Amino acid sequence: MDKLIVHGGATLRGSINISGSKNASLPILAASLLTAEPCIIRRVPDVSDTNYMIQIISALGADVERSSGTVRIACEEISDVAPYELVRRMRASICVMGPLLARKGRAVVSLPGGCVIGDRPVDLHLRGLEALGAKVEFEGGNIILTATDGLHGAEIDLRGTHGPTVLGTDNVMMAATLADGVTIIESAAAEPEVLDLANFLNAMGAKIQGAGTRRIVIEGVKALHGVEHTVIPDRIEAGTFMAAAALAGEGVTLRRVCREHLKAITAAIEHSGHRVEFNAAGDSCTIFRGEILQGADLVTAPYPGYPTDMQAQMTALLATTAGISVIKDTIFPQRFMHCAELKRMGADIKVDHGTAVVRGVAQLSAAPVMASDLRASAALVLAALTAKGSTEISRLYHIDRGYEHIDEKLLMLGADVQRVKER
Ligand code: EPZ
Repeated sequence: MDKLIVHGGATLRGSINISGSKNASLPILAASLLTAEPCIIRRVPDVSDTNYMIQIISALGADVERSSGTVRIACEEISDVAPYELVRRMRASICVMGPLLARKGRAVVSLPGGCVIGDRPVDLHLRGLEALGAKVEFEGGNIILTATDGLHGAEIDLRGTHGPTVLGTDNVMMAATLADGVTIIESAAAEPEVLDLANFLNAMGAKIQGAGTRRIVIEGVKALHGVEHTVIPDRIEAGTFMAAAALAGEGVTLRRVCREHLKAITAAIEHSGHRVEFNAAGDSCTIFRGEILQGADLVTAPYPGYPTDMQAQMTALLATTAGISVIKDTIFPQRFMHCAELKRMGADIKVDHGTAVVRGVAQLSAAPVMASDLRASAALVLAALTAKGSTEISRLYHIDRGYEHIDEKLLMLGADVQRVKER
């Protein structure tokens, strides 16, 4: 296992390219199962999660090639049983359920295991697929979906107690593309990654309208064909580097971003006193650390609200921002694993019932800390950039799940970081 040593105090300058979106790539890779024809998907980030998805699709029988971010997938003959030993390693594997069911009339996928950021049920996924005509059974820790008479259109409301479901919307939308008739998804997730998937599916010959809004209408078709597609930029990686630039930068520029997707993150960073300037095309931004800073009140919400995937990173920024900040995660109320580690570095944070109250301190101090999940780990890296001393962040594999070459990108910006093998 690797660890990252971050020597605090370096000033970040210069520019980097933001990678393609992990959370758009995963369902789009799964969607290639819907056709026997080859699909070419560009700007797929080289991270563990996309590698797991590619391994799952290969294990299902697809022919997969990958080079320099481009993935070519041909699913001529595929099995309907997703391999447990791969599925258990990544919750997002659940998004092969919809395509397998639509293509094969059957899907066997392991129930997702536990997750440190909170309970991750799939009841909404199953509600939607059942409404399309699937029979749902459970056996030996697997979900077994069958639709021997094929799938039929339906009106489905996918709202859960914590709001819409991103991958649940993806699963139902993918299955509905080959159903007989029209499907209407109410309370759909409106994340940019859902819209990117819909654009991919429409390019394959699907008939989807309304993706990116709360109401999606899918008219089933007989078959889908191969397609070429470039994945949207990763808005969470961009947000993470925006926070790094606000913490420790002097005019850091991020290229290959999408201004539209970053509105809530930009507003939060500017509200706490920093400046973000986009170019006219909106595909590049420069962040300037502010002089007069203030705490922020943040409540995570489904897109276009403030993303839960940027909650930990903003907490790290606010830990050394003068004033009091209140951060509430309405989507994953338990997603505060990073706070205990930040407190070991001297942060003043109280967590209670899904809310963190942060009192900004002048500076954090280095301490050996442990990554726990993808975004919590990113928060620790951010905190270490301006901490006094050298911080060792162990279990770096959590970060490698979702950030492409994070140490290389930080080094390009002038950070003093080293990736070393843990003894
Ligand atoms: C996606 O997960 C993202 N992952 C997550 O990003 C992100 O945190 C999450 O959406 C919320 O934005 C990918 O896109 C691969 P949900 P997903 O279904 O789709 C509850 C990262 O860091 N729920 O939108 O699995 C659920 O418990 C990852 O990149 C049900 O109750 O999340 C949560 O409270 C972490 N029943 C809320 O809905 C269900 O059937 C939103 O979850 C499904 C979800």
